[in-house]
Amino acid sequence: MILCADPPPPIKPPENKITELAKTAYDSSTMEQKTRLHIERHRSCEVSQVILSEVENRCQPQTLEPIKSGGTPRSGCSPSVESTNALHRHMVADAAWEALKKSVVHFRGQPIGTVAAIDKSQGALNYDQVFMRDFVPSALAFLMKGEPSIVKNFLLETARLQLREKMVDLFKLGQGVMPASFKVHHCNSMQKTESLLADFGETAIGRVAPVDSGLWWIILLRAYTKWTRDNSLAESPDCQRAMRLILKLCLSEGFDTSPALLCADGCSMVDRRMGIYGYPIEIQALFFMALRCAVTLLKEDCNDDFVYQISKRIKALSYHLHSYYWLDFQRLNDIYRYKTEEYSETALNKFNVIPESIPDWIFDFMPSRGGYFIGNVSPARMDFRWFCLGNFIAILSSLATGEQAEAILDLVEERWEELIGEMPMKVCYPAMEKQEWQIVTGCDPKNTRWSYHNGGSWPVLLWLLVAVSVKLGRPHIARRAVELTEKRLVKDEFPEYYDGRAGRYVGKQARKFQTWSVAGYLVAKMLLDDPSNLRAVSLADDGHIREGPLLKRSNSFS
Ligand code: GLC
Repeated sequence: MILCADPPPPIKPPENKITELAKTAYDSSTMEQKTRLHIERHRSCEVSQVILSEVENRCQPQTLEPIKSGGTPRSGCSPSVESTNALHRHMVADAAWEALKKSVVHFRGQPIGTVAAIDKSQGALNYDQVFMRDFVPSALAFLMKGEPSIVKNFLLETARLQLREKMVDLFKLGQGVMPASFKVHHCNSMQKTESLLADFGETAIGRVAPVDSGLWWIILLRAYTKWTRDNSLAESPDCQRAMRLILKLCLSEGFDTSPALLCADGCSMVDRRMGIYGYPIEIQALFFMALRCAVTLLKEDCNDDFVYQISKRIKALSYHLHSYYWLDFQRLNDIYRYKTEEYSETALNKFNVIPESIPDWIFDFMPSRGGYFIGNVSPARMDFRWFCLGNFIAILSSLATGEQAEAILDLVEERWEELIGEMPMKVCYPAMEKQEWQIVTGCDPKNTRWSYHNGGSWPVLLWLLVAVSVKLGRPHIARRAVELTEKRLVKDEFPEYYDGRAGRYVGKQARKFQTWSVAGYLVAKMLLDDPSNLRAVSLADDGHIREGPLLKRSNSFS
């Protein structure tokens, strides 16, 4: 059975039947679930690998469903259960498209973005704004649906916003900073004149400028260009200037001894104090991807060597992250046996990490098969937490080698209960509790253990999980996650996040009708239905992104 990429023809159950229908589908399928998972795991070995370069060249819609013999339904369900499931899926997709449509914001008559959430039951705070990072899945959904104009308008308007002067108290921010969010301001009571009000961090909780915004902007520009095959937007003076301004900020020289970007806490998706200050993997992976996108989009200027500088940074960053962030069983064992206080260029324990600082949980969490890029590395500090976004962007950008990409997905499979549980998927693992939570978050009541940014489960991350599973030809992982999401998402009204170790509870302060939960689901579904959609968000390993010997494992083991 092939799932439809577009909203299916109107098989619309009456509104009040939706929950009932979802329940029936759930009840009748639970029995088969365990058997199905077993069968799917087995089948995964039979599904041929979808090599990205092939996907990029083929661009032919195809299905990843394994070939069925004798017309037996995939899951072994009875035909009536299959059709109830199909009906339920259609219903979820219908509801999602409708919610996404409602979230669209217009500026001077043109669509320019989507609001973060439409939850009438709670105060809007800034959820009525268009967030740069939140718009990415919406943009992908619109691109894949064949509606690129909203994406173009968004890119152009935000490039204009970037040029505004931005001040926090008496301090002027760098020109390249892109806004975290913006909203349409109606200038008079008759609502005839409109302007855009942007937030670059000066009104945000915590007053942090979003480092990820500009990186996402470049990634989105490449997605638009790749998708529409229209180079004119990227080549326009506005977009060329915007890219250069963003990257000049990131490439400027300072006191750093590493090619990674130094960040304040709360400068990305995790936008509150969560101990990610320093060199968080999320930003480093986005930085790597944005640099790679920029190389393909920037026009060479004979007056400078900007593109050359970018290429050098790509290699240095790749080397740094491979050497110091990659963790697997072997490397954990190496770090566990590290000697300290080494001085000289040949030191193995370069950051002087004291083995006693390795947290207990990691010894159990680390499977024999699998690995990941850890959260952060700086002097005497390794943050061993698993962060979803950074690891999946590492796969999509080909920062991870083929072997490492497989290892990241192996880890997800091996630690399914911890990382996915009942709702894909955890923003980070594990949660901080008690005194650690007090010290690191500053007693943040929104980030209590297993909630929100502190080990909460975010449906938006589904699209990334599906994208990497499809990229690596392991779609059974994607299907399993999508099925889990479909059981709850509409019934719970597209929450922003879920709480609890297994992600079973709608988040304490989660907004309903959170747009990126809606769009993330739609993108996931379209990627699964048609893997060629992956070309918008995936970069192949072109062989020019690494230099010198690649340290997959530590060489400090003696
Ligand atoms: C929360 C999230 C942030 C998101 C914003 C709007 O603050 O942490 O990543 O952009 O909500 O949805």
